Amino acid sequence: MLRNKNILIGITGGIAAYKICELVRMFKKNDANVKVVLTPNAKEFVTELTMDTLAQDRVYIEQFNTTDKKPEHISLCDWADIFIIAPASANTIGKLANGIADNLLTSLACAFTGTKLIAPAMNTGMWENRFVQKNISALKNAGMHIVEPESGFLACGTCGKGRLASVEKVFNEAALLLYENQALKGKKILITAGGTRENLDPVRYIGNYSSGKMGKALADAAYNAGAEVTLICTFEETKPYKTITVNSALEMENAVKNEAQNANCVIMAAAVADYRPAECSVSKIKKDKNEELTIKLVKNPDILANLCKNKKQNQIIVGFCAESDDLIENAREKLAQKGCDFLVANDITRKDIAFSSDYNEVYILSKDAPIKKIDRSTKENIAKSILEIIFKGENSGN
Ligand SMILES: Cc1cc2nc3c(=O)[nH]c(=O)nc-3n(C[C@H](O)[C@H](O)[C@H](O)COP(=O)(O)O)c2cc1C
Repeated sequence: MLRNKNILIGITGGIAAYKICELVRMFKKNDANVKVVLTPNAKEFVTELTMDTLAQDRVYIEQFNTTDKKPEHISLCDWADIFIIAPASANTIGKLANGIADNLLTSLACAFTGTKLIAPAMNTGMWENRFVQKNISALKNAGMHIVEPESGFLACGTCGKGRLASVEKVFNEAALLLYENQALKGKKILITAGGTRENLDPVRYIGNYSSGKMGKALADAAYNAGAEVTLICTFEETKPYKTITVNSALEMENAVKNEAQNANCVIMAAAVADYRPAECSVSKIKKDKNEELTIKLVKNPDILANLCKNKKQNQIIVGFCAESDDLIENAREKLAQKGCDFLVANDITRKDIAFSSDYNEVYILSKDAPIKKIDRSTKENIAKSILEIIFKGENSGN
């Protein structure tokens, strides 16, 4: 699978740098091409000679001694299929999160638009430092993949979280990303996420408990699999793909109509309100004027059903249903009534999954295939499985 893949490995000045010798060997044994770039500080931890020999190529360190026509921070970007930074020091992580490019490795990270895999390693105090954590979140939000450090005995003599993840784990994660990057290449996927808010007055709304985590996980998984993703959500998001923020069901309907035109697949994971207040007061509704307050609600458009009615040729439409009773029966009915290709059903009464949780367990219904259950797992894993099932039929020509 890795034959002729171009792996760029960046090593920073951390004590775990010696472990990367083994990582380089693993890629070489799997027929990948490897180039290694060191920060100047990493030279204190591993020698150029060792890395030269293992990678069977010269090591890249200096930013300004290039003899090539293209500077190395550009030519190496053109060459690499993936850029792995391991170990990633707290210092370099801080630079990556802030667009600082003051050596060859950080310039490369700034210029490289492909898949980046970051494996941090540091002392527990550094790892738990709130600025380091903020930087890690910023890298995740920018679409970089983080292999979390592990807990255990650290080189500084203490015990805690911060130890570099095993090189096998870093290798497997990279191999998976290289594989995943291919799966949905060329597909345009539209995903909705979050709960809509139906305004009553300038300060109040009728909403629901949807966190949008499932939709976000789907969008991330589709992006990681190489798809061109648009996420329409009810919260602000900074992602490496297109995001559109909406508030109400009507705004969501509008955005979906515009974006669904060219989509190969639309996944409606958002919890769209069925009803909205018939009127939205321009000024705040005052308590003293009303002993009782009756709000008249009117039906919102059924975005999913309308999408299915106007379905484009070969478009795949996926609905979601959150049920509190008779999950499968209600889901079957909804699938037939809406006319979508797949319906993902989850039970919202369970405390260990669904709303606001990082976990889910779902059933996938479709017109022609038996119901598939995806057992409880993180929403990231559930998202990957859902995409696999949706696009399996396509790839096999079903
Ligand atoms: C013996 C030793 C071990 C170190 N180990 C780490 C480490 O594991 N992780 C880390 O973030 N910094 C570590 N540091 C601190 C970094 O070397 C320092 O922050 C340096 O500026 C990193 O530079 P770079 O990110 O440009 O490679 C260590 C320093 C020393 C002297």
